[in-house]
Amino acid sequence: MSQLNMALIGAGRRGAGAHAPVIAKLKDVFNFVAVCDMDEATAKSVAERYGARAYMSVRDLLKSEEIDVADVVVPGDAHHAISWFLSENGVHHLVETPIAATLPLADLMIETAQKNRVKLEVAENYYRAPMEQFKSQVLAAGVIGKVSRLYRIFHEGGYHGMSLLRIRAGGHPTSVLGIAHTSEVTPLTDRMKRHHTQEHWTLGVVDFDNGVLATMIYSNVIHARSLGRGVGGVSQIDGTAGTVVGDDFYLVPPGELQTGAVAQAYTPQRVRFEQDGVQVLDRIEMQTPDGQFVWNNPFKRYALTEGQIAIADELMSLARAVCEDREPDYGAAAGRLDQEMNLGMHESATVNRQVVTFPLQSPTTYERQIHESFQQKYGCDARDVERLVDVFFPRL
Ligand SMILES: NC(=O)c1ccc[n+]([C@@H]2O[C@H](COP(=O)([O-])OP(=O)(O)OC[C@H]3O[C@@H](n4cnc5c(N)ncnc54)[C@H](O)[C@@H]3O)[C@@H](O)[C@H]2O)c1
Repeated sequence: MSQLNMALIGAGRRGAGAHAPVIAKLKDVFNFVAVCDMDEATAKSVAERYGARAYMSVRDLLKSEEIDVADVVVPGDAHHAISWFLSENGVHHLVETPIAATLPLADLMIETAQKNRVKLEVAENYYRAPMEQFKSQVLAAGVIGKVSRLYRIFHEGGYHGMSLLRIRAGGHPTSVLGIAHTSEVTPLTDRMKRHHTQEHWTLGVVDFDNGVLATMIYSNVIHARSLGRGVGGVSQIDGTAGTVVGDDFYLVPPGELQTGAVAQAYTPQRVRFEQDGVQVLDRIEMQTPDGQFVWNNPFKRYALTEGQIAIADELMSLARAVCEDREPDYGAAAGRLDQEMNLGMHESATVNRQVVTFPLQSPTTYERQIHESFQQKYGCDARDVERLVDVFFPRL
């Protein structure tokens, strides 16, 4: 694979804290040439850390540099404008989640990328975490039978939660029931320096075309792990012949199905080694009556932490798509579908808890509210991308 000139666009918490160190470690794939952030001090300090050049606007970045690929880590409201600009200039890119705030804005991105033959990947990281990849492998082998129900309660929700539910369901969503509840909380700042004065709680119940039913409960305060919320959670996959609770597989020994059907727990084991002072994940393995399952870390030579593997996976997906002229592993359509499910849940909650069917009749009432608040916040129409490229988007 030839080395690609890479620019990081947005060097805030996620850009500088999570993406930049991984780009720098994937040296044989990416030549980390530039950091672009509208905040001058941020752009300069992060660029200096990686021996890259600093830019304060994407227009200046593309005027001065030959960029092959970009990693877009600006606030979610800015994704469509920056993505539009990159696509119009032929720059392939990875965009952080959510793909865009609404479906019309996601469609604008997808259409512009297609028109310019630009590869667009979405940085959906939850299913890419090593333990989730391991679980995907074991579930595909059918050890708990056919999946029937999913629970994701007090864990990450929104588009990330929907992504995992959809992948675990193995089907296409047909409808969603959403319930929302907003309550006051004592003003607090969470560990990610986000400020909260209200708790926005949602419940989503999703039906899939293969008969799977999924339930999700989530709130910003649960996500923040603040006020004791989210300390315990339920992540459960019910199958016809067993259950996954958290990371553990519960399987009934053969012959005991008619005598209590008490299951035994099988826990995946991580095997690590030390390299350059990092505890590197070598593999995850688990022995079951159905055999031995092993997931091998394809990035072990880069001395990444376990948490960095999902980011390496999404960056490499983009690099392979560009170098081999193929579709990215996840892709914009999947990112759009996750956001469609999330918006559908909110739409159902907005329209008196009526079940909403997919595909959504977009723009929904909820999406129109988002576009109106966009106009108020940024002073122009959400689709006015030419203007929005030069707007500073504050932390959401
Ligand atoms: N996948 C995940 O698990 C995960 C986790 C956290 C955040 N995110 C996503 O990452 C993205 C960034 O989030 P964050 O928490 O780092 O935000 P942040 O506000 O900390 O950082 C965003 C940066 O973008 C810069 N910026 C704003 N407008 C700009 C513009 N027009 N051009 C260039 N730079 C601009 C800001 O100065 C800031 O430094 C969001 O899309 C968010 O949803 C994803």
